[in-house]
Amino acid sequence: MPNQHTVLFSAAAIAEQVGELAARIDRDHGDDGLVVIVVMKGAAIFASDLVRAMGTETELTFLTASSYVDAFTPGETLSLSGDLDLDVADRDVLIVDDIIDTGRTLKELSAMVAAHGPRRVATVALVSKTSRRSPDAEPDYHGLEIGDEFIYGYGLDWDERYRDLPFIALANP
Ligand code: IMP
Ligand code: MG
Repeated sequence: MPNQHTVLFSAAAIAEQVGELAARIDRDHGDDGLVVIVVMKGAAIFASDLVRAMGTETELTFLTASSYVDAFTPGETLSLSGDLDLDVADRDVLIVDDIIDTGRTLKELSAMVAAHGPRRVATVALVSKTSRRSPDAEPDYHGLEIGDEFIYGYGLDWDERYRDLPFIALANP
């Protein structure tokens, strides 16, 4: 693992993107308030910046989703843990993840939330990895776009490391 990082998105570029996403979400949800579901662990940092940049009133809850079998390989099954401890019936819900790849995590989480009778479920990912996406799994909002590179930093881990970096870096495995 590197001592030096190849910065792909600087802290300033991320902050600008987070501000734009917050403004778009505010425009769409301004008056109603949102239940925000943060997909742990990766989205912890993004979500904390996003909800503070949004004017929309939010209630926060946290679920853990994991599919990677090792640092770089997505597994066949998605494991979900944590309880939806807020009542989402007739509420607008926003599911926040760090990155969307195939789209399976956000799709399965959306289906799980939909079963609780929300008014609307939207999804946001800071980064969209466009190369492997199922066509029916686009997020409602995304910011930065990449191909099939593996990235880390700003919440995203490389085998649990580097979530604390203020920028996003490119791994060269
Ligand atoms: P999906 O279910 O295929 O859309 O995968 C999304 C999940 O895979 C994200 O929540 C991340 O946890 C993880 N992931 C995908 N690509 C990367 C990456 O480049 N770096 C770190 N985690 C990633
Ligand atoms: Mg994740």
